[in-house]
Amino acid sequence: SIYPVILCGGSGTRLWPASRSDQPKQFLKLVGERSSFQETVLRVKDIPGVAEIVIVTGEAMVDFVAQQTAEIGAPVTILVEPEARDSAPAVAAAAAYVERQDPDGVVLMLAADHHIAQPEIFGEAALTAARAAEHDLIVTFGVQPTVPATGFGYIRPGEALLDGSVRAVAAFVEKPDQETAERYLLEGYLWNSGNFAFKAATLLGEFEAFEPTVAAAAKACVAGLSLEAGVGRLSREAFGQAKKISLDYAVMERTTRAAVAPAAFAWSDLGAWDAIWEASVRDHHGNAQDGDVDLHKASGVLVRTTGPYVGVIGVSDIVVVAEPDAVLVCHRKDSQAVKTLVDGLKAKG
Ligand code: GDD
Ligand code: MG
Repeated sequence: SIYPVILCGGSGTRLWPASRSDQPKQFLKLVGERSSFQETVLRVKDIPGVAEIVIVTGEAMVDFVAQQTAEIGAPVTILVEPEARDSAPAVAAAAAYVERQDPDGVVLMLAADHHIAQPEIFGEAALTAARAAEHDLIVTFGVQPTVPATGFGYIRPGEALLDGSVRAVAAFVEKPDQETAERYLLEGYLWNSGNFAFKAATLLGEFEAFEPTVAAAAKACVAGLSLEAGVGRLSREAFGQAKKISLDYAVMERTTRAAVAPAAFAWSDLGAWDAIWEASVRDHHGNAQDGDVDLHKASGVLVRTTGPYVGVIGVSDIVVVAEPDAVLVCHRKDSQAVKTLVDGLKAKG
């Protein structure tokens, strides 16, 4: 059976002021009527062979998860991590849980903060990947890159494997520098979409080989785990022994079992406001708006408010995000720099 594991840990700094540490981006309704977390659950809920959906998140997010899954009528199991230690310890604990449920279980690991425009195509790709995973492969989804972004993992596809449904990963490089990313684009590398398929047992074996503290912590967490109303709290002592590291650095850069399935679906990681604009429904002037907003002679703008009325006149290609206590105005092409702004705010206290 297939066990979707949704990692819900990020805070989405670049989507300030909508995204806050107590209200992270994956639970916000940024594109359309559903949050990206809800979209993620809906995308996998009805895939044939799906047994149980597992969410890994922090204590502060449990209520969001419970409320947002109830809203869409999707039962899930919630594993609560006592602290954020990046994606490797979180997914390892989930894999150990899945292995306990089903020794042959295949994990479909998903980020909670992505937008995928064609869920049906994703469903087919997920099944292809899940089938390949049964052969002890760790399957990634390769996205055709458009710009030399440095925030992604890059995959060099190798020879065809199995029936040609996937290819081997000849090289995996997480977050290369700008110059390297530019070269990778010319050399036909793909972006790692940040979603994966693998047998729980396969991944745990790789953790044992490459990051034994992560494997040991996961096993110890699950050995003592009991669920109450679908919620299981991982032991603080055990989880805290795991190295803080992402799956990409811990396993993907090192494993020889990696494969890549083609991602024919339109994909965005909704990292910053320019990506939200890109994924939103826009009028014929290229404007996207949400909330109490009026636009005149504006083009290519994204304007969103959850509080005050916002009027925008005679400007192009900007982002305005108004919350009751903060307003952001920036050029769309400077969306990445919001992180700098937030870092500055944090430093101010
Ligand atoms: N539960 C939990 N706990 N989840 C976590 C934690 C944690 O400590 N840290 C990260 N996550 C979740 C995030 O919420 C997200 O859903 C997913 O794991 C990936 O983490 P990010 O921090 O967003 O990773 P990234 O965007 O820098 O890089 C990953 O995604 C890219 C595509 O968006 C990598 O897999 C890259 O290779 C990939 O290109
Ligand atoms: Mg991300």
